Amino acid sequence: MAVLNILKYPDPRLHTVARRVDAFDDRLRQLVQDMAETMYAAPGIGLAATQVDVHERVIVIDISEDRSDLRVFVNPEIVSTSDDHVRFEEGCLSVPEIYETVERPERVTVRACDAHGKSFTLDCEGLLAVCIQHEIDHLNGKVFVQHLSRLKQSRIRSKLVKRDRQAA
Ligand code: NI
Repeated sequence: MAVLNILKYPDPRLHTVARRVDAFDDRLRQLVQDMAETMYAAPGIGLAATQVDVHERVIVIDISEDRSDLRVFVNPEIVSTSDDHVRFEEGCLSVPEIYETVERPERVTVRACDAHGKSFTLDCEGLLAVCIQHEIDHLNGKVFVQHLSRLKQSRIRSKLVKRDRQAA
């Protein structure tokens, strides 16, 4: 297993649209393991392959308190969304130390495959619904700050660029 490097906004590679996975092989399962290790090490509650510069439709999530409930979504698709929306303060491993409120559908139904290609459908609500929508956005090349106003986005961008320069 390996902890992978996480791309940081505004890295343009975060805006790559990921392609579908069609081989459910050992390479995929290795990627899933490495992504899980990277997420736990960060620590975070979700990670999309896009964030580790692998542009394939793979997500790992663990929202449990004791980090014992790893969920893997390969080729996830939202098949239905609720009309009700919720506002939730989101953060992202690719946008360190920035937390902003985003509005999203409160409940979604997701269809995906596990790392062995077995398909499943899952009704998500609460934190899991927020998290899966946030991660699917990543696979579509979208970072959560893109849900905010242009002004806020440019403020966050300059803050992160400045912080990066100071760290260098
Ligand atoms: Ni994120």
